[in-house]
Amino acid sequence: MLLAMGSPKEDAAPNEVDTDTTPAPTRRRALELLVAAGSAVYTCSLVVPASQFLTTPEGSAEQPRWLRLAKLDSLSEGVPTRVQVRGAQRDAFTVTPEVTLGSVWLTRKGSELQAFSAECPHLGCAVDLVAAGTSFSCPCHTSRFGLDGHAESGPSPRGMDTLVTRVTDGWIEVEFRRYRQGSVERVEVTT
Ligand code: FES
Repeated sequence: MLLAMGSPKEDAAPNEVDTDTTPAPTRRRALELLVAAGSAVYTCSLVVPASQFLTTPEGSAEQPRWLRLAKLDSLSEGVPTRVQVRGAQRDAFTVTPEVTLGSVWLTRKGSELQAFSAECPHLGCAVDLVAAGTSFSCPCHTSRFGLDGHAESGPSPRGMDTLVTRVTDGWIEVEFRRYRQGSVERVEVTT
């Protein structure tokens, strides 16, 4: 008996129909695209939260940073009082709770509060109150400021930086912000 050796398609049973008419290269391309899309989704799920962590400041225009300073009734009327600002500090990867972030000069005038950052706008030294209590002065380059914070003399390019306060349950809280040193304009520093 003579047995004819044919191609695989010729060997298929007569009632089997090969319905896959897609060329092999097209199927391979579709598979590659599917794998690439899956990789992109996975990568985004890792990268987006990390980038949010790196760029989220501890306090911003959208998320004010209110920090508790002192009891309102601890301030003497009209006498500037320097108070430390403490809170969490965030860098790129860690948050350190309860560190000293700076200090603020607070003055109570009746029901009103005045708050200035104690960081000199010139180069960042700590501004003091002069002995007579009549003005503020920076010991580094002798910039002098009035009790209302305006620049009177010295190299500071602007007056002391005003900070916003509020009173909550008898506690003074400050919206703590930092501003660029050496600049006439008050530009917030967010990092
Ligand atoms: S840092 Fe205050 S005057 Fe220079």
